[in-house]
Amino acid sequence: MTQWDAVIVGAGAAGLFCAGVAGQLGLKVLVLDHSDKVAEKIRISGGGRCNFTNRNLDPSAPQKHFIGQNPHFCRSALSRYTPQAFITLVQKHGIAFHEKHKGQLFCDHSAEDIIRMLLVECDAGGVTRWQPCSVKAVRHCDGLYELDTDRGPVQTRALVVATGGLSIPKIGATGWGYDIASQFGLRLVERRPGLVPLTFDGQAWAPYAQLAGLALPVGIETGEKKARMHFDEDLLFTHRGLSGPAVLQISSYWQDSAPIRLNLTPDVDLPERLQDAKQRSRKLLVNELAQLVPNRLAEAWTGQNPLWQRPVAEVPDKALTQLAEALSRWSLVPTGSEGYKKAEVTLGGVDTRDLSSQTLESKQPGLYFIGEVVDVTGWLGGYNFQWAWASAHACAQALAQQNHPA
Ligand code: FDA
Repeated sequence: MTQWDAVIVGAGAAGLFCAGVAGQLGLKVLVLDHSDKVAEKIRISGGGRCNFTNRNLDPSAPQKHFIGQNPHFCRSALSRYTPQAFITLVQKHGIAFHEKHKGQLFCDHSAEDIIRMLLVECDAGGVTRWQPCSVKAVRHCDGLYELDTDRGPVQTRALVVATGGLSIPKIGATGWGYDIASQFGLRLVERRPGLVPLTFDGQAWAPYAQLAGLALPVGIETGEKKARMHFDEDLLFTHRGLSGPAVLQISSYWQDSAPIRLNLTPDVDLPERLQDAKQRSRKLLVNELAQLVPNRLAEAWTGQNPLWQRPVAEVPDKALTQLAEALSRWSLVPTGSEGYKKAEVTLGGVDTRDLSSQTLESKQPGLYFIGEVVDVTGWLGGYNFQWAWASAHACAQALAQQNHPA
């Protein structure tokens, strides 16, 4: 049976990066994936341009951009492998990139550049890759892990689980990592889709379904008091509900049956502007409103109340105030989300109480968990990849330490 210093299951962002670093630190590494292609999520990420990190990430305050039962867990790995460290690697490989919005860095050409870079790094570390290759069983005997794979049995001192989350099953997501955690007695935090479009009841949504395709900047929030979260981002209306960065961000904080609140006119003092129009204009309210918000939005809202369909000068003050409030404090309760088929990430995962924040080793010696399979979820904007790189790097360093203790 072939013996390896480390076997990494999952050749995605975290798995490939960990393999390359560990290989270059002198370890004999096997990385395997059940898909025939590696890193499919990188390929489709960032609209095909991979938002590979975020310059605004603050490793000393990870709770700003990361969610999990213990948001401080990721501090150690994130502060030892920073966005700048990954940017330096990207630059070393001559990959052109640009900053788009709020610190988000994207490839100029294609996400394939990042995949190629990871594969070159694996080659530099002499990493062996097997794919497609599934693992049928894992046993732990005499300090070694034995894996039954499609290509025969393998043995290793260190097993690294990098199988990611449950989102987008059609490109290879599975719950294998969670099953292995359970097999070895580790705790799991309940999983649910994150960074996902939200959906609304068909009937209640009917007046807004006509707005599908409309995008506009909004303020969005959910939760109360200390749990209140607010984002200023773009909103996108869809046939079944709401999407766009604003909704993806808030979806990771939204609790079932809680309302979300939207300000559709964040940059306009709507009550004042409507009163002003009332004093000077002979136009219909819908036409005045269309100067302040997109035309289709003005039509959809004014269509809901006969008083709002009059010339602005004839609309009672109370009805004008009601319209301003409806647009700037629109409160609505999503009925659900588009689920894992559309989610960018999985919230929850392997409980960080059973993992070392320094090494990503679990309470089960020699068994490591990195990337999205762990209960660490980042905001939209490159934070999830930075967690994948940083956790992979911390793990690779630990593997090398344990292989050749100083
Ligand atoms: P990842 O999912 O990358 O890799 C897991 C690997 O394990 C896969 O190759 C899979 O085939 C393999 N695997 C699964 N089960 C297996 C099994 N049973 N046996 C063997 N192999 C198995 N993030 C970000 O920071 N910026 C962005 O621009 C985007 N954009 C984006 C777009 C879309 C559409 C999605 C779905 C997601 C994003 N993300 C993102 C999130 C990001 O893709 C994600 O957080 C990382 O890929 C997680 O890296 P991992 O290596 O943990 O999992």
